[in-house]
Amino acid sequence: MPDLVVAGNWKMNTTVAEAATLAAGVVDGAAAIPGVALVLCPPFVSLAAVSDAVKGSAVKVGAQNMHFQDSGAFTGEVSPGMLQGLCDYVILGHSERRQMFAETDESVNSKVKAAQAAGLKPILCVGETLEEREGEKASDVISGQVRAGLEGISDTSGLIVAYEPIWAIGTGQAATPETAAEVMGGVILETLRSLFAAAADDISLLYGGSMNAANAGDYAAQDCIHGGLVGGAGLQAESFLQVAAAVAAAKA
Ligand code: 13P
Repeated sequence: MPDLVVAGNWKMNTTVAEAATLAAGVVDGAAAIPGVALVLCPPFVSLAAVSDAVKGSAVKVGAQNMHFQDSGAFTGEVSPGMLQGLCDYVILGHSERRQMFAETDESVNSKVKAAQAAGLKPILCVGETLEEREGEKASDVISGQVRAGLEGISDTSGLIVAYEPIWAIGTGQAATPETAAEVMGGVILETLRSLFAAAADDISLLYGGSMNAANAGDYAAQDCIHGGLVGGAGLQAESFLQVAAAVAAAKA
């Protein structure tokens, strides 16, 4: 079975002090949840503080984005090399980046390659809009995002793919576990198998979109779902740990 992972995407929330406190709270409860990798993804400015706070624990750190170039005149951007030593994971192609910051499949693909070259584990996000779902285009959109995002990639070690239907993010309207499994075990896994053959079955697939302590176990009960990428529920240590515990219990 692929690794179980529960990652908290804190988005543009938490000051440095709040981030350190939240990370410390997660560290306190993490030992009680073996078998699930817990990954905290704070804003860039808090990566150092969170990385300090998790030292000596099994809790891991991730960034929410990065540029694909090593360095240069890219005001406001952060390079893969700058993340080395601060985190092990990096979220790439989140729908908020695609929709509000003009990220394309092409730039996401460059970022996946750059992350791997820097030894960072990419969490590639894919997902359809409500309009695309209602227009029965979800499968094509998602398989296209997976294919384009992973174009030219041959090493799948450390690669994670997160399915985040855009209509489910921050809305409280989570996809049903059956809908998520249809996409993840169907469209995403089949696309990954066509790209990577048997190695596809070792890639962790995460669900994201209004995941919480109450519904996390229902997602993880599906064979093709190996954890979650949590937004709102990740902003409090207790609810984040409850999500992780529910995933662990469902897979036990
Ligand atoms: P919510 O859990 O707040 O819906 O956010 C999901 C998400 O976008 C995680 O990356």
